Amino acid sequence: MKKSLVVILASLLCTSAAVAVEGDAAAGKAKTASCAACHGADGNSPAPTFPKLAGQGERYLIKQIEDIKSGARPVPMMAGQVDNLSEQDIADIAAYYASKQGSTGQADPKLAEKGAAIYRGGIAERGIPACSGCHSPTGQGMAAAGFPALAGQYAEYTVAQLKAFRAAADGREGRSNDGEGKMMRTIAFEMSDSEIEAVASFIQGLHK
Ligand code: HEC
Ligand code: HEC
Repeated sequence: MKKSLVVILASLLCTSAAVAVEGDAAAGKAKTASCAACHGADGNSPAPTFPKLAGQGERYLIKQIEDIKSGARPVPMMAGQVDNLSEQDIADIAAYYASKQGSTGQADPKLAEKGAAIYRGGIAERGIPACSGCHSPTGQGMAAAGFPALAGQYAEYTVAQLKAFRAAADGREGRSNDGEGKMMRTIAFEMSDSEIEAVASFIQGLHK
């Protein structure tokens, strides 16, 4: 009797651990009330230092919220915002933002050509791969792989992220939550300020 109960409990635990939490966009909307001041009610942020979340892939969003919660990606401005979110809350919030349409922006015409060349072709002499290889030619990313969408994102935010990856690659304070492969740190480390600014401007104007 006792033994069979243990077996049942163990199998229940296994099932719940194996099944990923399914996000519910409608439930997520209600859970983003406190996020709206900075990220906009529909995930299109009102200011260029706050990233747009609308249309971003669920897997990427879940990972970032978890990384911000754990401190793996320090975001001082979000202190306390995500601490009390459960796994279900995070999945719901991610489903909500993923279901929204990201707004578009414009590239600076003076930077667009240089930015497009880097985005589509990388910088061969320094081994920088084309951004389009992982973030897709239209900047929609690859949601299932967790590669973020970049299209239409504020250039100011993108510049800050690339510089943060670069700083972390140099052993300084920055962003180091891109995994063991250090994909983004390795790429950003090789980029100059003007290259970062050009590709970020091109990304701001990128759309389907
Ligand atoms: C006071 C402003 C503020 C509030 C409120 C806020 N955020 Fe943020 N959030 C930021 C800033 C600033 C960043 C970018 C930090 C950086 O530069 O790395 C950010 C980044 C993010 C990112 C990473 C986006 C990306 O493209 O990598 C996610 C996801 C996110 N926030 C979700 C949320 C959620 C969910 C809430 C509400 C529970 C929330 N934020 C509330 C300011 C805020
Ligand atoms: C080999 C695949 C790969 C290539 C090539 C690549 N990226 Fe990424 N990039 C990623 C992944 C994966 C992440 C998410 C890291 C994480 O989970 O935190 C990312 C994240 C980013 C972010 C942060 C997005 C946000 O919302 O905060 C920016 C900006 C970015 N990449 C720009 C670029 C640019 C510009 C290039 C080309 C110079 C490039 N990437 C090339 C895989 C790649």
